[in-house]
Amino acid sequence: MRIVAPLVEPAIAVSCRGITRDFGDGDTRIRVLHGIDLDIPLGEITLLVGPSGCGKTTLISIVCGLLEPTGGDITLFGESHQSLRGTRLVQFRGKNIGFVFQQYNLLPALTAAENAALPLIIAGMPRRQAVSKARETLETVGLGNRADSKPSQLSGGQQQRVAIARALVHEPRLLVCDEPTAALDAQSGQTVMELLRRVAVHPDRAVLVVTHDNRVFEYGDRIVSMTDGRIEKIETRAQRIAVRSEPAAEPIANELLSVNRVFGSVDHVA
Ligand SMILES: Nc1ncnc2c1ncn2[C@@H]1O[C@H](COP(=O)(O)OP(=O)(O)OP(=O)(O)O)[C@@H](O)[C@H]1O
Ligand SMILES: [Mg+2]
Repeated sequence: MRIVAPLVEPAIAVSCRGITRDFGDGDTRIRVLHGIDLDIPLGEITLLVGPSGCGKTTLISIVCGLLEPTGGDITLFGESHQSLRGTRLVQFRGKNIGFVFQQYNLLPALTAAENAALPLIIAGMPRRQAVSKARETLETVGLGNRADSKPSQLSGGQQQRVAIARALVHEPRLLVCDEPTAALDAQSGQTVMELLRRVAVHPDRAVLVVTHDNRVFEYGDRIVSMTDGRIEKIETRAQRIAVRSEPAAEPIANELLSVNRVFGSVDHVA
């Protein structure tokens, strides 16, 4: 089957070039990332997958500016991290990136709306206005009626949806999720991924999801496989669908054999 390339390549939100990262000093120094080149497009969910310890969290921490690379550079929406050091990088990150973690990290004393409002309050928005905006975002994740509940009164899946509302409330251009379904049962994990597809995929936004969980692979537009600190393979949704619909070689070979038996030698089937 011929794969038809899209007419226009997707615009790139994040571009990593030659990223390396070492940990430790002297004899104990180890290289965890070995020269990563990766583009993360706008308007898509990119999944970053690979075995435990291969460097996924290290790579996304570098992409988000939470960790310095040892070598290489990242360009985020046209701004190079190298040119954004210090306070400017912190401000740029606060404005442009939303995070969702495996363990939700909600503050237990605050309500769902107050938790979801935190990025706006930190950015200086008056509390009442921030909480009102957070209530609207909670509506979009299906939790409008739980805005005044404390995290302990919510299920794991609902807490993760509050965490997604908190990550989206300031309308960041990059949403980064580290194992967002790992602490959830299959049904809640599916709800969270469906929600991400519905509310986070936007032409001006990129979504990067780290996962071990092969149940969520179907939600990715692009799957980036990592092994031992290297990118091993990048597969788009179109490539996965093409592989799935490719007829298996064996039935064709069997068909050809039976045609040959009936009609004599036939080299190919038109
Ligand atoms: N601060 C650190 N100091 C030393 N080694 C570290 C540090 N952080 C990570 N590492 C090492 O870097 C490697 C990659 O870690 P990382 O957390 O990026 O893996 P991961 O792919 O996210 O794994 P998991 O799927 O288990 O979360 C591991 O061998 C880990 O031990
Ligand atoms: Mg990790």
